[in-house]
Parts: sequence; structure tokens; C-alpha cells
Amino acid sequence: MIFKVAVMSGDGIGQEVMQSAREVIHKALKNSSHQIEFTEVLVGGAAIDQTGNALPAETLKAAEQSDAILFGSVGGPKWEHLPPSEQPERAALLPLRKHFELFANVRPAIIYPELKDASPLKPSLVEKGLDILIMRELTGDVYFGQPKGKRGEGKEEAAFDTMIYHRYEIERIAHLAFTYAHSRKKIVHSIDKANVLTTMVFWRETVESVAKSYPDVKLIHQYVDNASMQLVKNPSQFDVMLCPNLFGDILSDEASQITGSIGMLASASLGDPHSRWGREGYSFGLYEPAGGSAPDIAGKGIANPIAQILSAAMMLRFSFKMDKEADAIEKAVKKAIASGARTGDLIMQGDKNPALNLRQMTDVILEGMD
Ligand code: IPM
Ligand code: MG
Repeated sequence: MIFKVAVMSGDGIGQEVMQSAREVIHKALKNSSHQIEFTEVLVGGAAIDQTGNALPAETLKAAEQSDAILFGSVGGPKWEHLPPSEQPERAALLPLRKHFELFANVRPAIIYPELKDASPLKPSLVEKGLDILIMRELTGDVYFGQPKGKRGEGKEEAAFDTMIYHRYEIERIAHLAFTYAHSRKKIVHSIDKANVLTTMVFWRETVESVAKSYPDVKLIHQYVDNASMQLVKNPSQFDVMLCPNLFGDILSDEASQITGSIGMLASASLGDPHSRWGREGYSFGLYEPAGGSAPDIAGKGIANPIAQILSAAMMLRFSFKMDKEADAIEKAVKKAIASGARTGDLIMQGDKNPALNLRQMTDVILEGMD
């Protein structure tokens, strides 16, 4: 089988870390019966500079003809003067999610045992490691709800967005969260604000009804304000956190930060495996690192390529059913970390070894796949 991938490296460190990810995929597929064909396309600030648009029509077309999107990162100071709706992050990512109906954002927040000192939390809280899966709804809620707009003038001038969820939107993300939890620790925390918002009362009721199909998974409802406190107070209580779009945006940043190693975290945005995108029987997805474009270190060759590499592994697993190849990549990353390989972002006080640059870290991972 030949799978097609639209490669959207984007801005900042995007280009550099994407190169590492491609080398790693290449090696993982060496003895595989499958092949991957990559098409590089413009996105984000790079696309604005060349075409005036963060998501040019050709880019969308290439993605439509692909089986997955491997995304780097977009944005940077150069484009910050643009109106918010035209900025690379918003003008590229949100339309991509909506267009491809990528309603589920899966963000694992993992603390590697060797890196637990990098967490800003007390050692006693992260002693046993941490493995939280944030399952964020991605195409509904106040992000996309209509109407949105402005009205009135002077002191009466007002702006508004609409928080809205349809039953089908809640049901499909809840099913996915319970399915994941089933193969993990069998706990779902459903996050809402049902003490205030009607939309969230409906969220809670709907999740409750979906839970009936998964009697062996424990469902716990938690208000979002409490959840954000619990994440720093007692993070190991969490297994799968099922979140509406806006709350998931906020909590996933918090969760990634408490791992202390945002440069290691991947994410997948997935749709219905039976959607019209990608090939039949396979799930179209967009895979991207959780961190941003890191303009401060872009072009220096010192970025941590691991988040991009692990995003590529997620792509092999979720979109191409290549579990063996994905395992090999994830194992090589763990091995590199266990052996003491560290890029600058992972260096802690007292570390004796000097920081590796991007090339060196990539090589350690490639060697680990032999
Ligand atoms: C994310 C980002 C995006 C979001 C922005 C860049 C539009 O924060 O992927 O979490 O809010 O979803
Ligand atoms: Mg965010």
C-alpha cells in the first residue's frame, strides 16, 4: 500500500523538526511492505508571505488527496500585527479541522520517569510517572457556534459568540473517550460547567447516556475550574479527560506543562474513520506537536525533534494501522531518553552531559531503531 501524506512544516522550528520526522519514518518503513509518498505544501506564515493566505487553495487540495496531514507548527512575531482572524494559527488550523471534520483531538500528557524532575510539580506528585490522555472535542462549542459577531454602538456596543453542542457531537467524542479508556485504566473524567451553563448540562446528560454502553469504565463528572485545580493537586487521579472544545484547549496546555517536557508531546486530530477523507477503512488525521513554532530558537538547529517524531508515529498507528513501525519509533525515543540523550529544553540542573543539538538527537533515535 502507498499512503499519501500532505506535509505542512509551516514556520519557526517546523521545517527543521519535520526533516527529522521524515528521516525517522523513512527508517521505520525500510523493511515494511508499505510506502509513504510525501507532498510538501505551504501553510501558516510561510504561506501568507508567498500567497497572502495562511491556507492556500492548493494546500487544501493536496490535503484532500492525501491520507493524512503531518503538521509542523505555524506562527511567529512576523505575523503578529495581522488581525487575529488572519493570524497563521487561527487562519490555518481552525479551517483545516472543520474542513476535514476532525472532531477529536487526542493529546497524551506523559511524564517519562527519567524526566520527572523537569515537571514543575512536587516530586511526590509525579513519582509514579503520569499518563493522562486528553480527549478534546475539536469542531464544536463556542469556537464554531453561530451566531458570532458584534452589534450596537458606544457603551451599548457588544460582541458575542455562541456556545452550542448538538447531541451527535457529544455522543461521538464521548464514545471515543470511553473506547480509549477501556484499553487503559478505565476511568473517564468528563469536564463541564454544568453548574452554570445550559450547554454543559446537556453535555453531562449526553455523556451519562453514552456511558451506559461502557459499564466497566468509571465515569466521573468534574467542573472545569475544579479539574484545573485537580491537575496540579493530584494529577495521577486522571486517565482519560473528556473535554468540550474550549475547556480542552485550556486544560491540554495545563496538562502538557505539568509534564515539563512539552517538546516531547505529540497530538492527533481525528475524524470518523468512515468520513469521505482518506481511504476507506482508514482514518484521516492531522498530526502535530503540542508545542509551538518556538521562533526564539528557529534556524539554530537546537530544537527538540521528539514531539514531531512522536506525531509521525501516531500517524503511522492511527491513520495507517502500522502499529509495528509506530512501536519501533516510540521505543527508540524512550531508549534515547533513558540513555541520557537530552536536547537543550530537557537539560536540568546537575545534568553532566552537554545538550545535544537537533541533528545529534535525531541520530541517537535513528540508531536506536537498528
Ligand atoms: C490549540 C491552539 C489552537 C486552539 C489555536 C492556535 C487556534 O491553541 O491547538 O490548542 O485554540 O485550538
Ligand atoms: Mg491551545
